[in-house]
Amino acid sequence: MIDDIIKISKQAGLLIREGFGKSLQIEFKSNESNLVTEIDKSSEKLIVDFIRKKYPSHSILAEEGGEVNNDSEYRWVVDPLDGTTNFAHGLPIFSVSIGLQQNTETIAGVVYDVMNDIIYSAQLGGGAFADSKKIKVSNTKSLKQSLLVTGFPYNVAENPEGAFEKFIELTKNSRGIRRLGSAAIDFCYLASGVFDGFWEVHLHAWDICAGKLIAEEAGAMVTDFNSNATDIFSKKILATNGKIHDQVISVMNMS
Ligand code: IPD
Ligand code: CA
Ligand code: CA
Repeated sequence: MIDDIIKISKQAGLLIREGFGKSLQIEFKSNESNLVTEIDKSSEKLIVDFIRKKYPSHSILAEEGGEVNNDSEYRWVVDPLDGTTNFAHGLPIFSVSIGLQQNTETIAGVVYDVMNDIIYSAQLGGGAFADSKKIKVSNTKSLKQSLLVTGFPYNVAENPEGAFEKFIELTKNSRGIRRLGSAAIDFCYLASGVFDGFWEVHLHAWDICAGKLIAEEAGAMVTDFNSNATDIFSKKILATNGKIHDQVISVMNMS
């Protein structure tokens, strides 16, 4: 099925690339920061139509409402455009993220880094890849020498889970922090060794599913902020190269 996931991710990516920079119909969701464009919707329709046609018995969880609950052991978890704010503002950092679960375990994940034209992929137990190249997490052992990445949910103004304090403490205790605006890409750059750690609160299953598997298959440790195992519905995600994990958690607890 991985070949199908890659194929449909690329098709959706092509549709997104064609819409990039064009004047678009943009609507607000929960607030004026939370956008949805016609491209989010058409990308989701393309992906969901494909799954429904080829795998009609499978369930689907997709961000823009394309949910199908068939009580199947298989569930596709789809973010048709991760990085909508970037996309809508002309910043070329966004992705398509598709995970496939069997009995709630993620068995395959694909993140298409649209503007760099790179397919990140993983199958459970099979390692992680950027196109055909095997990738792995960094070897950085010290938080002080680490480059981190984070993001903020759309209710950031409410400072959920002390997001601002964590950002301040980790800024003081690392080499630097980036905020790219696509959680799926954040996971993949961690998987590639670009970033040493990634954390975020209040992500959704479709932001996490594919990227988490890709990061884990590249050697990452992915937990909540207390080192407990997480699933794709976790509201606190910390993903690191493993070596700096405890250091990040102790700095988080300073806030
Ligand atoms: C968002 C991006 C962003 C993260 C937000 C997500 P969207 O997804 O992944 O990096 O900080 O929390 O909601 O809305 O662009 O699909
Ligand atoms: Ca998303
Ligand atoms: Ca999205």
